[in-house]
Amino acid sequence: MNRLRSADWYVGADRNAYIHRAWMRRGLPEDAVDGAKPQIAIANTASDLTPCNMHLNEVAESVKQGVWAAGGVPYNLPVVSLGETQVRPTAMLWRNMAAMAMEEMFRANPIDGLVLLGGCDKTIPALLMAAASVDIPAVVVPGGPMMTGHFRGQALGCGTDVWRLSEEARAGTITGAQFLESEQSMIRGRGHCNTMGTASTMAVAAEALGMTIPGFAGTPAADARLLSLSHETGRLIVEMVAADRKPSDIMTKDAFLNAIVAVAAVGGSTNSVVHLLAIAGRLGLGLTLDDFDAAGAGVPVMANLQPSGLYLMDDLYRAGGALALLSQVKDLLHPDPITVTGAPLVDYLVDRPVYDQTVIFPRETPLMADAGIAVLRGNLAPGGAIIKPAAATPALLQHVGTAVVFDSVEDMRARIDDPDLEVTADSVLVLRGCGPKGYPGMPEVGNMPLPRKLLEQGVRDMVRISDARMSGTAYGTVILHVAPEAAAGGPLGLVRTGDVITVDVENRRLSVALTDDELRARRPDAATEAAYAAPVRGWTKLYVDHVMQADTGADLDFLVGSSGDAVTRESH
Ligand code: FES
Repeated sequence: MNRLRSADWYVGADRNAYIHRAWMRRGLPEDAVDGAKPQIAIANTASDLTPCNMHLNEVAESVKQGVWAAGGVPYNLPVVSLGETQVRPTAMLWRNMAAMAMEEMFRANPIDGLVLLGGCDKTIPALLMAAASVDIPAVVVPGGPMMTGHFRGQALGCGTDVWRLSEEARAGTITGAQFLESEQSMIRGRGHCNTMGTASTMAVAAEALGMTIPGFAGTPAADARLLSLSHETGRLIVEMVAADRKPSDIMTKDAFLNAIVAVAAVGGSTNSVVHLLAIAGRLGLGLTLDDFDAAGAGVPVMANLQPSGLYLMDDLYRAGGALALLSQVKDLLHPDPITVTGAPLVDYLVDRPVYDQTVIFPRETPLMADAGIAVLRGNLAPGGAIIKPAAATPALLQHVGTAVVFDSVEDMRARIDDPDLEVTADSVLVLRGCGPKGYPGMPEVGNMPLPRKLLEQGVRDMVRISDARMSGTAYGTVILHVAPEAAAGGPLGLVRTGDVITVDVENRRLSVALTDDELRARRPDAATEAAYAAPVRGWTKLYVDHVMQADTGADLDFLVGSSGDAVTRESH
């Protein structure tokens, strides 16, 4: 085995080595910190305020057992955690902060390998961004989805059914009391959202990138096999350190293209675009928005999972899991990228039967053909915008309508249900001020609610365009991530109510019927500009000053590119 990184802390007779060893012993075996045993940090996003990750302390214990069994020394390393449903104003504002803090702690500590425990939406992306930056051997343990909850005899999908039931309550088809009654049934226990939302999507993406033990993603949080696989992961990371198998060896450009195919095949969340771009950016791989369209748009959705389909993550696992699904598109995957085990992903895609074809559709008769994420461009989105056709109304994918513009989330909420709002089912709802800089933090508000008066007429979908993101559990004909955003001077900030907007997904176009001269002559109105008050202190100021646009992953500009694990100075 090569000299361990931790040996730089622990080997020697000088004062610094003395201090490092002496303070760490505290009951550890004599040889635990002798510079020869791999020191494994379990980067743990468990937090009582991240309900989807609360169980990860128990998972960490299983990882620890595995690390000890393989001859390593495990350490619990609590890291910044983000509860998607809890933190205000939006968890995305803190993803880069979490990733930056993790990166610094991974580098600063005497660590040879990392086990990354994540689950809730932003946690796996932040962990992978940090591990990619430091580039020491690392492996993901995905915390797993919840068991399915039921309400009045029907399965409830976390998130997706909140959106559906709240719209039904606004439309008057269920009572407010019934809506609130369902709240008790939504969350059945440990784990993350059980739809193919962002957490499930990023677990599958991590597996397709090669960063989990193959077959791990989608293992339910309550399933005993989650703990067995966590134990195995603990053993594996010790082997990975010995082999010096690093994130940059695993997460190659081709591995990202595989992840894009996997996300498309499961009908995964649009949020995966900003997360995969940001992770790839940390490795300097040159992944672009167009790679998503080129690699993923033609991939059929075979997972009949909410929000695109009917079932939930429990059902996917029962039907054979993500590997059974991926084995059906094996020919679309690059064969070379290796996984954390050292063997290529495609080696794990043989003899993977599908046990329920109502959950994992055959490739020949998929849930939806050509339904990966599509990238739209035009004079409304010169840098690009995205749409997930699998979650949209097919008839609205080609559409011309007049804009109804909202300058902020607050403006939208104040006016959307106004009976006097001039809007029809053919209108295009435009929301701005919700990009990385504008909100700031790019919240999941792109699936804005439909006007009540249209809901009451039976309308259930409309074209919606914004510089925001959308929850991975949401659905609708929703065009997102418009770049540049309005607050960065993008043309979205110049659109006015009544302008004619054309959406042409087939030809990947998104345009407003204004000439270049007309656009140049326009200036954002005072209300638009007032919505972007610049923060003056703290993380939010750093973020707004340095965050990049959605088309490059919304990371901070100074965090792009790997910075490695070296620490050259210390002082005691
Ligand atoms: Fe945590 Fe959905 S809120 S995964």
